[in-house]
Amino acid sequence: MSRSAPALRPYLPDDAPLLAAIFAASIMDLTGDDYSEAQQEAWAMAADDEEAFGRKLAGQLTLIATLQGAPVGFASLKGADHIDMLYVHPSAVGQGAGSALCDALEKIASARGTKALKVDASDTALEFFRKRGYVAQQRNTVTINDEWLANTTMQKTLDGVAVPGGHA
Ligand code: ACO
Repeated sequence: MSRSAPALRPYLPDDAPLLAAIFAASIMDLTGDDYSEAQQEAWAMAADDEEAFGRKLAGQLTLIATLQGAPVGFASLKGADHIDMLYVHPSAVGQGAGSALCDALEKIASARGTKALKVDASDTALEFFRKRGYVAQQRNTVTINDEWLANTTMQKTLDGVAVPGGHA
């Protein structure tokens, strides 16, 4: 079966409820090998307040990936140099949506003069970012809704040169 490549479009305020649902489904279905159920629930709860979640999406450069016109994932750039969010719906993983979103954010950041992009990658997404040339800088523990979750700060120079000194 031939699959079409994901398309991209900017975030619009009406998208907030659907992106909140993608966020929660992505966390609850895809991160179970790396995080406990309590951690997943605390993480997914961050989108329960859809108004606040929408404000966060609107305050960042947020892009949506669509397949056959339907949103299947989103990513956001916080400030000039930080990928804050990247979530793909479980039904659409492995079809290039995550890559298309990252490609676009990297190009936009580069065009704005940003030399290196950072991301606090979930353990689930670590390998995805490593494959794209991001290098682990440090392990972090963050608290979300009273649960402690680990992630890894990773960095990629946008001219394609690896960042020295990093390790997983
Ligand atoms: N582990 C290892 N490799 C992966 C993973 C993974 N979890 N996900 C994708 N890949 C690989 C693919 O196999 C593919 O490899 P290939 O090019 O060699 O074939 C490559 O990465 C690109 O895959 P895509 O199809 O473009 O990625 P996808 O659309 O599936 O999205 C994502 C990847 C965003 C990590 C998705 O799995 C997801 O939403 N995960 C759960 C939520 C999550 O943890 N998000 C990150 C939070 S941290 C943050 O937001 C900054």
